[in-house]
Amino acid sequence: MERTFMAIKPDGVQRGLVGEILRRFEAKGFTLVGLKLMHVSKELAEKHYDVHRERPFFPGLVEFITSGPLVAMVWEGDGVVASARKMIGATNPLSAEPGTIRGDFGISIGRNLIHGSDAIETAQREIALWFSSEELVSWQPAAVAWLVES
Ligand code: GTP
Ligand code: MG
Repeated sequence: MERTFMAIKPDGVQRGLVGEILRRFEAKGFTLVGLKLMHVSKELAEKHYDVHRERPFFPGLVEFITSGPLVAMVWEGDGVVASARKMIGATNPLSAEPGTIRGDFGISIGRNLIHGSDAIETAQREIALWFSSEELVSWQPAAVAWLVES
């Protein structure tokens, strides 16, 4: 089953939006299979954002991601990678559509509340980077028959 990695960034935690954000993915019908509150090391932050290493915003991004607790999570469901990206919205919250997380709660690209893997292969890399296999729980919600046509 398809899985994606997401992280509620330190601004989302500080602003008390953890419950609201989890609620949206639960209500949508995706299944939570991994969840932890953590203070991210500089090493992990740099590995996670390695593709942006040469960008001018990289040092500020790493500083921000390591500045306070973050909620790391893995969600499961058909099409979850692309659907979660849609629910998160455009990178710049000022351009993000209303109804998306960034569109509803943000105004600044450097404080855009949440990360979501951008492709299935990226999700696999990020899940392995952030979670050990023991931290991931495989389970099937009892309501699945009311959610997905078999
Ligand atoms: P993530 O889910 O966090 O990876 O965001 P994204 O996939 O929508 O955007 P991208 O991977 O291109 O950029 C990673 C993160 O770097 C963004 O979420 C922003 O927080 C930050 N970022 C990207 N572009 C800029 C920029 O031009 N200025 C600043 N300050 N931050 C940026
Ligand atoms: Mg990205």
